[in-house]
Amino acid sequence: MKDENVLELLSEILRFEGSVDMDKDYRIGWGWRHVKIWPATLAKLFKEGYIENVFRSNSFTGYRLSELGKRLLSAEKTPPQTHQGSKLAEADSLFADIIGHDGVKELLRASLLAEKPVHVLLTGPPALAKTLFLWDIEKAGGEKAIWLVGSATSKAGLWDLVAEREPRVLLIDEIDKMNASDTAALLTMMEGGRLVRAKRGRELNINNPLWVVAASNRCEKLSSELRSRFAVRNLNPYGRAEYLTVVKGVLVRSEGLSPELASEVANRLDGLTQNVRDAIRVARLAPQLGVDKAVKLLLGGLEGED
Ligand SMILES: Nc1ncnc2c1ncn2[C@@H]1O[C@H](COP(=O)(O)OP(=O)(O)OP(=O)(O)O)[C@@H](O)[C@H]1O
Ligand SMILES: [Mg+2]
Repeated sequence: MKDENVLELLSEILRFEGSVDMDKDYRIGWGWRHVKIWPATLAKLFKEGYIENVFRSNSFTGYRLSELGKRLLSAEKTPPQTHQGSKLAEADSLFADIIGHDGVKELLRASLLAEKPVHVLLTGPPALAKTLFLWDIEKAGGEKAIWLVGSATSKAGLWDLVAEREPRVLLIDEIDKMNASDTAALLTMMEGGRLVRAKRGRELNINNPLWVVAASNRCEKLSSELRSRFAVRNLNPYGRAEYLTVVKGVLVRSEGLSPELASEVANRLDGLTQNVRDAIRVARLAPQLGVDKAVKLLLGGLEGED
């Protein structure tokens, strides 16, 4: 197992242990279903000594983090202090897989490079690479970036997540679906304020400034105070020429099509759709059905059924 993987798994486990009462409700430890990590993976962590086995029966194996596991996590928490945001934005490869959107790239790079946070919200219709932008920042940020989807914030809540992992960048996809308490915490965090943890009445100071980059296709659903904390960047649907370029690029790079076949799909869809996901579906069915038939089945019988 690679070191990063181990750390990721252990922090996942730490987060779970922090969200429950281990001494009361999990005296026989947690099982793989609780932490959502496969038994075989847990067995490896156990073998390495990062988790300990506190209970075993025919139907349940209970674990908890070992001292070694905890030590590894806390060593990881005190990284050398650099301006992480800037390192991340300087990487040439950042956004290399995104075609076009030059203005958005420039804005995001500049925001991440700034001395103090400038938060950015990407909005706009589906399939315009909003999520891809967040992924790329996450990939570049490694441990210092946390990715979350608004509709599925962790059980422990945003507050604990940030307190535990102290990320530099928070990436929130579908931010319009985030629950009320996480949204309230976010409002404070974005201004570098203090938070009071509801559950245990403890305070958290955010020492390191936090950059937030978020995406949503419905900006109107966000409260005005949340919106006002962001530089809101609206992505417009692709024009025809842009659509052709994006589709060709995506099909070659991500779907493994030959440039010729990618062009054929792109040209066949020209004027029919603006949605890159349609092109991806056509590309996936084309080996079986051929491009024409795939287009016809997916986008409706344009020339009637044959
Ligand atoms: N400019 C682009 N460069 C590279 N890939 C793109 C581009 N535009 C769209 N895609 C591709 O289109 C698909 C959809 O992109 P993505 O999931 O980022 O869209 P989104 O804007 O988040 O959509 P939604 O609002 O529905 O969540 C992905 O497979 C992505 O690779
Ligand atoms: Mg998306």
